[in-house]
Amino acid sequence: MTDKEIILRLYGKISPYRSKLIIAMVAMIFVAAFTGAQAYLVKDLLDKIFMEKNLFFLKLLPVIVVVVFFLKGIAYYIYTYLLEQVGQSVIRDFRQEIFNHIQEQSLSFFTSMPTGTLMSRIISDVTLMQSAVSNALVAVVRDFFQVVILLGLVFYMNWKLAMFSFIVLPVAVYPIVKFGRIFRKLSTATQEETANVSNILHETITGNRIVKAFCKEQYEGQRFWDRVSTLYSITIKAAKYRCMQHPLMEYIGGVAIALIIWFGGRDVIEGNSTPGTFFAFLTALIAAYDPVKGVTRINATIQQGLAAATRVFELLDTEPEIQDKENARELPEFSSLIEFKNLSFSYDNKVQVLHKINLKVPAGEALAIVGPSGGGKTTLTNLIPRFLDISDGNIFIDDIDIRNVTLKSLRNQVAMVTQQTILFNDTVRNNIAYGDQEATDEEIRDAASAAHALGFIEDLPDGFDTSIGEGGARLSGGQRQRLSIARAILKNAPILILDEATSDLDTE
Ligand SMILES: Nc1ncnc2c1ncn2[C@@H]1O[C@H](COP(=O)(O)OP(=O)(O)OP(=O)(O)O)[C@@H](O)[C@H]1O
Ligand SMILES: [Mg+2]
Repeated sequence: MTDKEIILRLYGKISPYRSKLIIAMVAMIFVAAFTGAQAYLVKDLLDKIFMEKNLFFLKLLPVIVVVVFFLKGIAYYIYTYLLEQVGQSVIRDFRQEIFNHIQEQSLSFFTSMPTGTLMSRIISDVTLMQSAVSNALVAVVRDFFQVVILLGLVFYMNWKLAMFSFIVLPVAVYPIVKFGRIFRKLSTATQEETANVSNILHETITGNRIVKAFCKEQYEGQRFWDRVSTLYSITIKAAKYRCMQHPLMEYIGGVAIALIIWFGGRDVIEGNSTPGTFFAFLTALIAAYDPVKGVTRINATIQQGLAAATRVFELLDTEPEIQDKENARELPEFSSLIEFKNLSFSYDNKVQVLHKINLKVPAGEALAIVGPSGGGKTTLTNLIPRFLDISDGNIFIDDIDIRNVTLKSLRNQVAMVTQQTILFNDTVRNNIAYGDQEATDEEIRDAASAAHALGFIEDLPDGFDTSIGEGGARLSGGQRQRLSIARAILKNAPILILDEATSDLDTE
């Protein structure tokens, strides 16, 4: 992706907020104009008040100063606030888009992408993009006008002197370009390392019980230290250049000022110029140089943002492996037969996990599949709702190939209890009613009762309103499994898949 493509795509995300942006830009132009006015006032202050001792100007100038600063403050407030609003809106939209996009991905996507990496995309990459966008806008609009207005003023007051101060400009451009490249490279490394840190965090926090049981606290601590140390060295490398750029740019500015004192001071002494013009010139030039100095910093932010945007867009461009066919139709309510025909499946296109399976399951019948660990039972069940796609052969539901129907209509007909129980950090009621938020209390009770869960739920402190903790951490393994069975029962789908659904239950 080229920078231009990235910027165009970013613009697409910002364009809904165009009207706010335009107001912000107008306010920025005002800020730039008032900054120019401030510099110009120095001329009158020195020439009219100090040199001519003009009493009328003594009364007028303070009033003008108060008004100019006031208006500049208002304009500044308007543009910073609006920019923040637009930036935060863009962040919000991006997060939602990435979230929705991730949810559409197939199972294989999640087996290859660690949780921490995905989280760092949604949380920190998006933030970097936002700060790049708002910084770029300020640089392009406010700073641009500020430089134009102030330089206009500088040339108007003394064009020869203005030319001299430009001698140093090429010197200032070099660090801007050079540092920008370094920042972009380091930003990518920083974000990748941040993702690694999140991954370790996620793993050790959720797997805390095992860390404890094996007394691996120190080992995990060391693993974490390695990662944060790597992150530290990358960040420090970036800081080395970041901290260098300000004094460097300041120094280049100092050289320019020295030139001006040398040539401009001579003009004043020889009577070719007034002290007022000289100081106003100097003030305007310093103010004009300010944005130029800021360009290195803003460029760093923009480079980081572009690097982050590349990663985010890459993620957004990942097509889900399993999607509806173009003319996929709705699967009618299952009524007669599920048929596996010469079905083969492989995860890696090398080893066949399932080989030429032929199987018929009539409606209303329960089929149990028994086999050794790793035999392919879970894999087989995952093929029915198309969590995985068949490598060879077919699955028919009532003579319709499941690859010809919409994923939604297919999955609506399947209720599943997975081998690993997955529950959400919510109440018992909401967990059972996950597939049908409209379910009545009566229906939820019946489902719980059918799953033999009613007894323990009623013993919980708040009954159905008890919060069960992350992944159901506050329940026993068997209780968790009963809840997930109740959830599947409530969905009341024509096809019920139970993958070792009773492994945690007592024989009774
Ligand atoms: N996401 C995956 N990527 C690659 N290989 C996988 C993946 N999931 C499972 N496998 C492999 O596929 C084979 C079948 O696994 P599966 O989970 O279907 O077995 P199972 O019969 O359900 O076993 P169990 O009784 O232990 O639950 C195993 O050899 C496993 O290593
Ligand atoms: Mg299994």
